[in-house]
Amino acid sequence: MQDFPPIQTERLTLRPFQADDLDFTFQHFSDPQVAQYLLDEPPVTDLSQAQEIVQFYLDSAGKSYNRWVIVTEADGQRIGTCGFHKWNKSHQRAEVGYDLSPKAWGQGYMQETLHAAIQFGFVQMKLHRIEALVYPENVRSLHLLNKLGFKQEGALRDYFYLDGKFYDHVVLSLLKK
Ligand SMILES: CC(C)(COP(=O)(O)OP(=O)(O)OC[C@H]1O[C@@H](n2cnc3c(N)ncnc32)[C@H](O)[C@@H]1OP(=O)(O)O)[C@@H](O)C(=O)NCCC(=O)NCCS
Repeated sequence: MQDFPPIQTERLTLRPFQADDLDFTFQHFSDPQVAQYLLDEPPVTDLSQAQEIVQFYLDSAGKSYNRWVIVTEADGQRIGTCGFHKWNKSHQRAEVGYDLSPKAWGQGYMQETLHAAIQFGFVQMKLHRIEALVYPENVRSLHLLNKLGFKQEGALRDYFYLDGKFYDHVVLSLLKK
């Protein structure tokens, strides 16, 4: 059985990356509004970086990470991505990551996506704890996680280093119980 099959929600399909996601991946991750708070990797500025991302996710079978592309049911538009990484089976935990194209913000799509992904994490992946790391100024992301019941645990000081600067991150978690 595939580790991470597609997931259907009311308005969305979450499906694994495909080779033909290259153009979408480039457009999506080179959008400054998407990239603004994604501080763990350098921003995407050329197609070869997007190709690396697509290949990384195409090669995810049996690894400690996955990524779904979020597709609208109504018109088949790719509007973002979401997935788990740092999946530690011994300790039953993983970190969730997500990003939505700005045109799709404010419509509850990520709430719907994470609701399904979290359910998948607790039931199929048998996780006990789901973590998220967020840049403190990313208020949309913090608001979203708060609504989903994540609890803030503390600050990771100078956690990511990018372009000559260190960035603090807030760590939040949701427990299965
Ligand atoms: C973080 C991010 C996903 C949040 O996007 P978002 O649009 O605020 O989140 P949602 O898709 O869940 O939409 C929630 C809003 O839609 C509104 N909404 C409209 N229709 C809705 C519906 N049917 N159901 C739920 N909410 C709905 C809600 O009112 C809610 O806003 P509110 O909570 O202020 O009332 C987005 O800003 C993003 O991708 N940013 C760039 C990448 C990034 O920073 N990723 C996270 C790194 S930690």
